[in-house]
Amino acid sequence: MTKRRDFLQTLGLMGVSLPALHKILDRKSNYFPDTIAGPLVMCSRGESWGKKVLEPAWAKFKETNSILDAIEAGSNVVELDPADTSVGYGGLPDERGVVALDASIMYGPTYNCGSVASLENIKKACSVARLVMERTDHSMLVGPGALAFAKAHGFPEENLLTDEARLTWLEWKENLSDNDDWLPPADHDYKKFRKGGTINVLGMGAQGEVAGITTTSGLFGKIYGRIGDSPIIGAGLFVDNEVGAAGATGRGEELIRTCGSFLLVEKMRSGKSPQVACEEVIERIFHVNGGKQNVDFNVKMVAFNKDGDAGSASIMPLGDNASASLISDKGMKLIAGKSMI
Ligand code: GLY
Repeated sequence: MTKRRDFLQTLGLMGVSLPALHKILDRKSNYFPDTIAGPLVMCSRGESWGKKVLEPAWAKFKETNSILDAIEAGSNVVELDPADTSVGYGGLPDERGVVALDASIMYGPTYNCGSVASLENIKKACSVARLVMERTDHSMLVGPGALAFAKAHGFPEENLLTDEARLTWLEWKENLSDNDDWLPPADHDYKKFRKGGTINVLGMGAQGEVAGITTTSGLFGKIYGRIGDSPIIGAGLFVDNEVGAAGATGRGEELIRTCGSFLLVEKMRSGKSPQVACEEVIERIFHVNGGKQNVDFNVKMVAFNKDGDAGSASIMPLGDNASASLISDKGMKLIAGKSMI
């Protein structure tokens, strides 16, 4: 610590700016463990989306040997696919009918991170978050600033609202209340379930370098300007090169107030397996809500540690045939996960 302070003072006297200085020091803070489990990519979806995400991610890893390239390629698949209504293009919009994306990325060897929040009109939110991490001295850009930054880097502005998402929004809007001027069709249902979603893509490279991405269109029908957990480092995503990686999906407000992903990594640091750590974060969410009987939302945690062990737990029963999936040199593996309610 003293050496770091002396170094800072010396460089400061040489006229090197503080932000530039921290970048230099961060690059020096690489931590690599003695034992390496081997490269892997994990995603917070079961078999079908898992395959769609993990196979291109793994191909990218084999091509570039870069875990950041791999998790970005896997995340881009979902961001660009309108069949997924919770991430990127085709994502369900906010209360105005506008798709606003949140995404984050974190890289273990440098502990650097980047995120964008309330980003409109850009499909690949996680790629913009990566540029925030790699090409700025900041960690987070929001709204019009994030859009301007994305455009400066050549991302095209596009309408993210598909017809399917617009019709879902219209149905939700019309069914919201029987006390407004939006009149639903005859088969209305004022208690229609509000869809959610998000994806985490986590990975470990050949040198044990850990990284993660979380990307989402956020809570469907959210208030204009609402930001969830996905772009908040420690809430929707956290990685630590000494420990492993964790990501979250589900009700962001609960993950923000429990620092869910950071908490999970800290539990693994204290020796808990990824599975137990995931379950304990869900238990913490029950606790802060006064017990599971008060919980009517979903949260899912996924994680792996440096040994390559993986786990997953959710509040509600899992829709897919597995909670998460993982790919490595041994092929694809499904993570069963545990539903806690
Ligand atoms: N976890 C996604 C959100 O709450 O926006």
